[in-house]
Amino acid sequence: MKIIQVENYNQMSKEAASLLIDEISKNPSLAIGFCTGGTPLGLYKELIKSYKNKKVDFSMVKSFNLDEYYPIKKSNTNSFYYYMFHNLFNHINIKKTNIHIFNGDSKNPDRECLDYEKKIKRNSIDIQIIGVGVNGHIGFNEPGSFFASKTRKVKLSKQTLKINSKYFKNSKKIPTYALTVGIGTIIGAKKIILLASGKNKAAAIKCLYEREDPCFPVSFLRKHKDLTVIIDKKAGSLLK
Ligand code: GLP
Repeated sequence: MKIIQVENYNQMSKEAASLLIDEISKNPSLAIGFCTGGTPLGLYKELIKSYKNKKVDFSMVKSFNLDEYYPIKKSNTNSFYYYMFHNLFNHINIKKTNIHIFNGDSKNPDRECLDYEKKIKRNSIDIQIIGVGVNGHIGFNEPGSFFASKTRKVKLSKQTLKINSKYFKNSKKIPTYALTVGIGTIIGAKKIILLASGKNKAAAIKCLYEREDPCFPVSFLRKHKDLTVIIDKKAGSLLK
């Protein structure tokens, strides 16, 4: 793995944006796996800025989101569907037909996951942008998830519900399930860029650096041949 340690969140976002823009310029029809949460917001702002300055063109880019709450409607401002359009897609020239996000309102979540997995397999992700939960989860693959796990419906852990409920106006309204791309599927991406900022991510990053441990699913990414980890000083504070 390649670790790029920068000073702070803004530098992490800029570094990630420049890597991604470089890849899009080499392959304009890049298939990108996008993630949500607070971590990639700075990256998305940088991408929008570069698009407005005509430094990047998303017209042929394909996107595949990593996860979604279940059940949740697209119109719910807490859905990852809403998040992606609000924070990125509405501001760049990506084609709507090239955007793939789970339907968190599907009547048949297992079928939804099977179809999503097939879509990813057909296209194959060129670059997966990924964050990490405080408990080491990636996507919504909570601690205890298997290395070979596929895209599926999962129950959210108590810790994730507690942390993520801060984004909900009524914290009791947070869905207790989610649909997530599996670890085995994430590992299938050609390149992975992991972002982490802040002291609360330091333990997960330490584990990723030192050993494979199902208690921190992020550590399974150690096995990937092309993993770039961009962290700020605080997220890297437990590394020797
Ligand atoms: C969420 C998402 C993850 C994300 C993580 C970290 O639960 N499912 O994909 O990486 O939490 O979020 P944050 O970046 O806000 O710390």
